[in-house]
Amino acid sequence: MWNTEIIGTGMFAPPGVVTNNDLSTMMETSHDWIVQRSGIEERRWVAPEVTTTDLALEASLAAIKNAGIDKKEIDCILFATLSPDHEFPGNGCFLQPKLGLTDIPAIDVRQQCSGFLYGMSIADAFIRSGQYKTILLVGAEIHSKGLDKSTRGRDTAVLFGDGAGAIILRRKEVKDPSKDSHIMSTHLFAEGAGARELWIEGPGMNLGAERMNHQMIEENKQFPYMNGKKVFMNAIRRMCEATLLACETNKVKLENIELFLFHQANMRISQMVAQELKIPEEKVFSTIQKYGNTTAATLPIGMSEAVEAGRLKKGMLVASAVFGSGFTWGSSLYRW
Ligand SMILES: CC(C)(COP(=O)(O)OP(=O)(O)OC[C@H]1O[C@@H](n2cnc3c(N)ncnc32)[C@H](O)[C@@H]1OP(=O)(O)O)[C@@H](O)C(=O)NCCC(=O)NCCS
Repeated sequence: MWNTEIIGTGMFAPPGVVTNNDLSTMMETSHDWIVQRSGIEERRWVAPEVTTTDLALEASLAAIKNAGIDKKEIDCILFATLSPDHEFPGNGCFLQPKLGLTDIPAIDVRQQCSGFLYGMSIADAFIRSGQYKTILLVGAEIHSKGLDKSTRGRDTAVLFGDGAGAIILRRKEVKDPSKDSHIMSTHLFAEGAGARELWIEGPGMNLGAERMNHQMIEENKQFPYMNGKKVFMNAIRRMCEATLLACETNKVKLENIELFLFHQANMRISQMVAQELKIPEEKVFSTIQKYGNTTAATLPIGMSEAVEAGRLKKGMLVASAVFGSGFTWGSSLYRW
């Protein structure tokens, strides 16, 4: 039976570091407020000429190199992002020629903070069905160009950052599931009733006669709106539920999971999930201090950095859980 192995990771963080103190020169906020509420110390912002596919290209090339494959072996691109270069076509279509590839399918995944995990699930299904053999899955975001950097937007502006991460997934025949690397399960969920609790309203086709006009801009419709408390509470509940479901499905005890790579929305969310599930702190790998919330890029950035730091090794049992706009959420259990 075919399964899916993650054979390479890569990431790219743009060089522009923006500290909490830098933000406090733009809006009424403070280093202490941001650290206490989110754990974030700094994030990266791109230069104006840089695009989301530029970040994705760097991360993808790093993943291809790390996997030790020829890029021509890639037979499908999955691109998770909420901040595409253009409204259409999707970013996968812009990334493909940048990688020097053609003809292979390029699919965008629009599931915000859950986008990368949704992408893992789609890739796993494609590979197990036999349709594709070697898939590039990339998560990349530029938030800095789309945030309200005045005091009005401070509740969201301090949380998000720019960055990209990628993995190569490949078909594998698993002989011993207790040892061989493979994705063991993915579970995906959405609750559309929460769609307006974390969203960007415009431009949009339901705004009347135009997708966007000056009045809508004055009303801030082009910036993210977030009901922080509601998102916070739902994220903890759903990430706990999804992690437990992954254990139950695979008949794995939570205490046997060796590393937890959670979506990096807020350090307090990860801490409360860990507390709720009684997961020891040292099993939770975090990158939010350095990068903030990079939405679809947080999981692959975490994978890359954990590998680099020697925290994620072949054969380890790993769980990921995510939550984001939509509301969307999910989990995956995999043997690395
Ligand atoms: C946004 C968030 C950090 C706010 O934390 P909180 O504990 O709910 O905030 P509090 O209620 O304690 O404080 C809100 C106050 O801080 C102020 N505030 C908001 N952002 C601020 C900032 N960056 N700096 C200083 N003050 C800020 C608010 O204006 C409000 O002031 P008021 O009480 O005078 O009206 C928190 O709700 C959160 O993390 N939510 C989830 C966000 C998330 O993860 N989103 C992505 C999901 S994928």
